[in-house]
Amino acid sequence: MSVSSSGSAAYSGSLEGSNAQRGLWSSRLAFILAATGSAVGLGNIWKFPYVTGENGGGAFVLVYLLCIAIIGIPIMMAEVMIGRRGGHSPVNSIKAIAQRDGLNPAWKLVGAVGILAGFLILSFYSVIGGWAISYVGTTASGQLSGQTADAVGAIFSGLLSNPGTLLLWHTVFMALVMLVVAKGVRSGLERAVSILMPALFVLLLIVVGYAMTTGHFGQAAAFLFQPDFSKLTTSGVLVALGHAFFTLSLGMAVMMAYGSYLPKKISIAKTSITVSVIDTGVALLAGLAIFPIVFANGLEPGAGPGLIFQTLPLAFGQMPMGSLFGTLFFVLLIFAAWTSGISLLEPIVEWLEEQKGMNRTVSTLGAGVVCWALGIASILSLNLWADFAPLGFIPMLEGKTIFDLLDFFTANILLPLGGLLVALMAGWVMSKPAMEKELALSPGTFSLWFVTVRFITPIAVGVVFIYNLM
Ligand code: TRP
Repeated sequence: MSVSSSGSAAYSGSLEGSNAQRGLWSSRLAFILAATGSAVGLGNIWKFPYVTGENGGGAFVLVYLLCIAIIGIPIMMAEVMIGRRGGHSPVNSIKAIAQRDGLNPAWKLVGAVGILAGFLILSFYSVIGGWAISYVGTTASGQLSGQTADAVGAIFSGLLSNPGTLLLWHTVFMALVMLVVAKGVRSGLERAVSILMPALFVLLLIVVGYAMTTGHFGQAAAFLFQPDFSKLTTSGVLVALGHAFFTLSLGMAVMMAYGSYLPKKISIAKTSITVSVIDTGVALLAGLAIFPIVFANGLEPGAGPGLIFQTLPLAFGQMPMGSLFGTLFFVLLIFAAWTSGISLLEPIVEWLEEQKGMNRTVSTLGAGVVCWALGIASILSLNLWADFAPLGFIPMLEGKTIFDLLDFFTANILLPLGGLLVALMAGWVMSKPAMEKELALSPGTFSLWFVTVRFITPIAVGVVFIYNLM
């Protein structure tokens, strides 16, 4: 399959036939692999459990699932549709559609929001990817075996308190991402992921199996699936919405970029639903793996971003062949994070190539190095600058470090904003017959989708924003 996106597809101004020139996904599976590779990442395994813990469990999970179903899937369909109809990189796809449907070219802003979001997300994503790299060594060395919760916690605090080590692994992660983006060799990695992702799934199942033996599985399942609405705050609803965008890689035009390679005969709805179901399945499985360990060891569900690094090592320290499974698990987590990281950097690089005429190597180096440098601020937020809350004078940002702010601003503001723009574009300005043709749904299903992107998504995102930001 030729999806290496050399990025050189010059904007020709014509829509017809443009897909043929860029090379199509060889099959529906290839698209699903790439889109799943982008979607399944640290968001599922690192972020979902800790935001669920911080926001009280069941009610938060329910809102998150609702956001996936009634906002995430329709927006993913809209993004893939815009990409396929445009047939180019996101900014140029929108330009092409704007020209054809007579829209205001200012809709390009969707692409710009996406590029900014991807850049900011990758800066801290890479730091967390670095934690995963560091834990390969921690598990492989066998030092976890039979450890107590306190000892495992101390290993993690030791990592966070050491800016040099964090910088080293952040650099390695960013270099891995830049290497693939610079060489445009995604397809090889994506093919590897077709084996590695299922392997990650199996390892998660093994940890869930271990978690069942802790005697706290029922408590964890209740925590995740019995909604207690007294624990849900308005900010929790915003986090759930933001996380739905984050975990599905939405609001950033990534799915638009992938959609431009999808053959016309393939159903956008079915593929979007498949990707979303896989992504959600991985997240729920991660929750079922982690929370029994939390409760069995008297840990705090709201422990924050370190949650999986304080719980999973305990499980690997106690289960038979734990060092082997643990090492494998973190290696696979790195692969999952790697494919996601690539999809965060790719849009910026493609934009630099197309708009600024830079070559791929130079644009990758430029964007990657600046992003890496910004990552240093996140590293310092974990130790030397842990008490530095630059926007702490704003009540809702009180106590948030630079790392927290980057996460908050991207996931909870930029991505929903990007998604809102996509919904408005599809719901209000694009040619309806063209969308009907592109989605090829039954009239009833199309109307359902259309009403969702036209009314439900904008209203839901708007209401959550107003409640939180006013
Ligand atoms: N979805 C990825 C995760 O869950 C992160 C990610 C990759 C992303 N590409 C994205 C998030 C684009 C938003 C937009 O780890």
